[in-house]
Amino acid sequence: MSARLRLPSSPSARLITGGDYLRFANRLLATNHVAHGQGFSNAQEEALTLLSAATGLSWEKLPHCFERPLREKEKNQFIEFLDRRVFDRIPTAYLVGEAWLGGLSFSVDPRVIIPRSYFVELIPEAIPQWLPPAQSIKRIADVCTGSGCLAVLLAKRFPRAKVDATDLSKDALDVARINVAKHRLQKRIKLYHTDTMTALKGGPRYDLIVSNPPYEPEGIYRRLPTEFKKEPKQSLVSGKDGLDVIRKLLTQASSLLQPHGILVIEVGGLREKMQKTWPKLPMLWLSTADGMDCVVLIQATNLQKISLPSPRTRRRV
Ligand SMILES: C[S@@+](CC[C@H](N)C(=O)[O-])C[C@H]1O[C@@H](n2cnc3c(N)ncnc32)[C@H](O)[C@@H]1O
Repeated sequence: MSARLRLPSSPSARLITGGDYLRFANRLLATNHVAHGQGFSNAQEEALTLLSAATGLSWEKLPHCFERPLREKEKNQFIEFLDRRVFDRIPTAYLVGEAWLGGLSFSVDPRVIIPRSYFVELIPEAIPQWLPPAQSIKRIADVCTGSGCLAVLLAKRFPRAKVDATDLSKDALDVARINVAKHRLQKRIKLYHTDTMTALKGGPRYDLIVSNPPYEPEGIYRRLPTEFKKEPKQSLVSGKDGLDVIRKLLTQASSLLQPHGILVIEVGGLREKMQKTWPKLPMLWLSTADGMDCVVLIQATNLQKISLPSPRTRRRV
């Protein structure tokens, strides 16, 4: 049992059932101001996920333990999870080794960012609308693949496509490999250790290039809650202004897309900066449920029309 976490000692407040522990966890997470947003939007979701992992019960079966006393092993595991979540600020997804995106489970650990991309909303309908029929899409690139979550969602949405997924981090690619195998997509998803799309140059062109790159400016990163600093810095930060990887991507993508192809990039808070930096580039901002609309769609024909400045840095791996 944890040395740091204090459990209620008065008999009336004593924790016995799964329900008691769940209420305790909700209060604890709220009063300690843990930050959400890494695959979970509130304390309740995190507490339920930790209880599910501690008891081994799926979400559907979890209510079975609400009215029964928790077993010693279950209690110890749950308290240990809470202790690490509250005092070490370890994100819940790392504690349980799993994150969900688009109804699919992905293995995660501190080698990769926890999946939470806006692309989960856009891959099913909004993006295919800009392409020929899904069955005819043959080649897709997922640049900055991290855990491989978007490569997997894309391979499932476009069942005839081969997906090339790149990342600069070998560690991230090791996790992506686990997820590609978990979803039995080894024959359709190929992983590349490379800077942006460097290793993909010279191959056949793509119908679709998708990227959720790092896009936080250094200054914003410094102010993020501790939980977010448990994720690899390289997955969040992209230079002083946040645009380093996006600059490279825009320059490389124009020669790698088919004429009917599209480039779609999640850019976080950089929408205005993008428009100011490339005022002549037509950008379509896709709507997302929370109104952030921070995913940009650029058509190959438009990308090829304008001449983009070279990226400031070129780094081969
Ligand atoms: C925001 S994460 C996105 C991961 C995943 N696509 C997702 O949506 O969860 C960005 C990823 O880009 C990788 N990365 C950073 N700089 C890169 C670069 N220059 N070229 C390729 N990958 C890069 C990081 O290692 C990290 O895995």
